[in-house]
Amino acid sequence: MCLVNEIDYGTPASKSDRMVTLAIDGREVTVPEGTSIMRAAREAGIEVPKLCANDMVKAFGSCRLCLVEIDGRAGTPASCTTPVAEGLKVFTTTERVNAIRRGIMELYMSDHPADCPACAEGDCEMARMAEKVGLTEIRYGRDGENHVVPRIHGDVNPHFREPDLSNPYFAYDPAKCIVCSLCVRACAEVQGTFALTVEGRGFESRIAASMNTPFFDSECVSCGACVQACPTGALREKSVIEKGMPEWSAVTTCAYCGVGCSFKAEMRGEEVVRMVPYKDGKANHGHSCVKGRFAWGYTNHKDRILNPMIREKVTDPWREVTWEEAFAHIAKEFRRIQYQYGRGAIGGITSSRCTNEETYLVQKLVRQGFGNNNVDTCARVCHSPTGYGLRMTYGTSAGTQDFDSVDYSDVIVIIGANPTDAHPVFGSRIKKRIREGARLIVIDPRRTDLVRSPHVKADYHLALRPGTNVAVLTALAHVIVSEGLVNEAFVRERCDWDEFQDWASFVLQPENSPEAVEKVSGVPAEMIRAAARLYATGGNAAIYYGLGVTEHSQGSTAVMAIANLAMATGNIGRPGVGVNPLRGQNNVQGSCDMGSFPHEFPGYRHVSDDATRAIYEALWGVKLDSEPGLRIPNMLDAAVDGTFKGIYIQGEDILQSDPNTKHVAAGLAAMECVVVQDLFLNETANYAHVFLPGSTFLEKDGTFTNAERRINRVRKVMEPKSGYADWEVTQKLAQAMGLDWNYTHPSQIMDEIAATTPSFAGVSYELLDRVGSVQWPCNEKAPLGTPVMHVNGFVRGKGRFMRTAYVATDEKVGPRFPLLLTTGRILSQYNVGAQTRRTANSMWHPEDVLEIHPHDAEDRGIRDGDYVKLASRTGETTLRARITDRVAPGVVYTTFHHPATQANVVTTEYSDWATNCPEYKVTAVQVSPSNGPTDWQRDYREHTEKSRRIIYAEPAE
Ligand code: SF4
Ligand code: SF4
Ligand code: FES
Repeated sequence: MCLVNEIDYGTPASKSDRMVTLAIDGREVTVPEGTSIMRAAREAGIEVPKLCANDMVKAFGSCRLCLVEIDGRAGTPASCTTPVAEGLKVFTTTERVNAIRRGIMELYMSDHPADCPACAEGDCEMARMAEKVGLTEIRYGRDGENHVVPRIHGDVNPHFREPDLSNPYFAYDPAKCIVCSLCVRACAEVQGTFALTVEGRGFESRIAASMNTPFFDSECVSCGACVQACPTGALREKSVIEKGMPEWSAVTTCAYCGVGCSFKAEMRGEEVVRMVPYKDGKANHGHSCVKGRFAWGYTNHKDRILNPMIREKVTDPWREVTWEEAFAHIAKEFRRIQYQYGRGAIGGITSSRCTNEETYLVQKLVRQGFGNNNVDTCARVCHSPTGYGLRMTYGTSAGTQDFDSVDYSDVIVIIGANPTDAHPVFGSRIKKRIREGARLIVIDPRRTDLVRSPHVKADYHLALRPGTNVAVLTALAHVIVSEGLVNEAFVRERCDWDEFQDWASFVLQPENSPEAVEKVSGVPAEMIRAAARLYATGGNAAIYYGLGVTEHSQGSTAVMAIANLAMATGNIGRPGVGVNPLRGQNNVQGSCDMGSFPHEFPGYRHVSDDATRAIYEALWGVKLDSEPGLRIPNMLDAAVDGTFKGIYIQGEDILQSDPNTKHVAAGLAAMECVVVQDLFLNETANYAHVFLPGSTFLEKDGTFTNAERRINRVRKVMEPKSGYADWEVTQKLAQAMGLDWNYTHPSQIMDEIAATTPSFAGVSYELLDRVGSVQWPCNEKAPLGTPVMHVNGFVRGKGRFMRTAYVATDEKVGPRFPLLLTTGRILSQYNVGAQTRRTANSMWHPEDVLEIHPHDAEDRGIRDGDYVKLASRTGETTLRARITDRVAPGVVYTTFHHPATQANVVTTEYSDWATNCPEYKVTAVQVSPSNGPTDWQRDYREHTEKSRRIIYAEPAE
């Protein structure tokens, strides 16, 4: 095992199509025009010394270490800032440049701590460069002016500054800084936050976080780009300082959001030392956010449950048992329940946090072992409308582009998504494209960072009233049709013309005009018109959307409205355009692909399809049910009705993540055998009879599929702490139930998936290990996958326009509940917080707060930071208020990361008409001053996470 080392080419790649040939140290090299001499040399295998350049940011030319000589040109130009030219003859190691380099390095080293641990441990590019240029002695000593020692000859050194240790994950030591500004440029160019600056002049220069505050209090978002860029150890991970340098590494995939960033897990033995974003990762190209980069400490958290546990009644204390006892108990209970109540009385829930292979096994267990289709997934509560809407219009249930496509977009539309918080690495990509000149339309009730942040400003922010997406999207279509902005050639060639005409006459109806929609949505008609014109005529236009579109009673209608807009304007089927759902969890796409829904086998094939059933019946040796099974809400309803009695929940906390907590609790409480498998005793486990320990992404092999349909490898870097990876647990359970499963590695599960699922036919671990990742469909027609879909035609044949009549949600504001609550994520936390709350990320977001507009706060006598009661017709909770005009009057907003808040106590049972995706984004509420937490919240806070138990519904006797 060794460290995965990536080459740094010194400057970014040029995108030019024109090629240039030159000679470097006698070697001929051909590269795209615009390439730097430094990069051309590296591509020819020649490493030019450098300090202030890397291939993630534009060259700056400050350190002068990279100079070269060029035949026929005077002087010694910097190779990082000098572009190649046809016929150049470049020399990188002449005596002259070698001598200059040694002199430069000597000056740098004279002001560098002699006892720098980073140098000693081999974590310092500067030390490596000193050796490379042949520096053997430093003639100037360290007694003169320097940044290194607090006192010189007993006097306070005016240049010395204390290290900044405020960030929980990295330290900044000014004494080691050479002011190369790589960190400043990485923060600006890669991350797009512009939090860092160079303060002072000349010898006084220092790196300062914005407003000269400590890193922790600054605008810094802790993405780690600065630490990664720093060549000196001035910025360094605290984990490396504490644990020492890594000994080996493996490339794996982040287990947080749907961007699916690739990381090198850098290890000492079985201990993670740091996670370094992988430049060859095709989703992130070497960038990361605070979650994937730093928030992995939960894997070792003391709260992890490492032994299976059983209890007869949920009021009993837990009893640790062996794995064998647990499997035998579950199998006996599930078989008893089926014997007593019928085959359909049990079911399973797959997890979008687990691998494709694990998800596949859970649905297989339900279909083959339970003999029914009662399997559903947490994707139900986020992106099921995407599946439905895109399948109806385009024929396939996935986003149309790869992330790189955004580099070709001229207009970017963000609807109901907050990428800089929820999909941060892609958020940075969007910001970069905006800085390059793309135009931006944001449709969101809240003023997200993309609406206005350093160097980014939306051209139009359509701050619509929650629940009116469909009205606004259809009004955009009204403008496009009524003003003759339809791409008729595209529509005639690629779409069903009759259906288009029907749709066009529908959108032209007066109730869909911007003026009419202004009344329901609050968005000025002129702004709707201007945004529609920009989308239709601004060049390549791409739509990205999130849960602010799907989690509505008309979620599926809104997805279809988006698909209609792209078809009508011809913005589909090439780079730079498309319809792109930003998936919430790491494997939402994969869990849907793997047949987690009660009506679909893997690959979105309906259970009633005889040919598909025949494939699995032949392989699994059982007769399969042709009737769709129960969705999660139906399972809970059936449990309350007494007909559904047992459930296997892998890696989900439905009590916290599903709407109407009391109803979920009532359903769980009515069951006789609830099996929960997770890393921690989650809220759902309060109602469990069996708890099975889960494994983290570091403890198993597998694959995740990200928002761009990219199948990425997850690689095991440590043994499962509980003894088994999640796929092994499901297999053992299946064996206990009498099934003949004998997988010895997840690659065999993928082979079965590929053999039975046309869109995965070409996928194998061998392929993924060879090419890195592929986007499905990956089969005979597309052996290396499909970055952009619907290029020459829609998957379903002709694109299908769908009518999208706006129907207001039944969730209405009124005198009792006059405000609309909408919810979302924050950068540092992730979903129900089970992982991120167990890391230092909680320092940024220790509790959920309620954003409320100053007018609404004033009307209620609420001050910033006050406790407020948030009440709806389903429940109430208490949290602190933050007064801000990010939300419009009449709208309040909160996150749902902390169980002590339980935002879903107030959300309702309304859901999408087509898929049952809950309407999280619209709840009528009242906000009033409060003295503090409610009783149940106080109980919660008083107990440790392991011992607490909140009762939302009494269990059945
Ligand atoms: S902290 Fe590191 S990257 Fe930033 S200027 Fe100093 S040496 Fe360069
Ligand atoms: S953007 Fe998403 S996938 Fe990437 S590091 Fe952050 S949480 Fe992980
Ligand atoms: S690397 Fe070229 S000037 Fe610093």
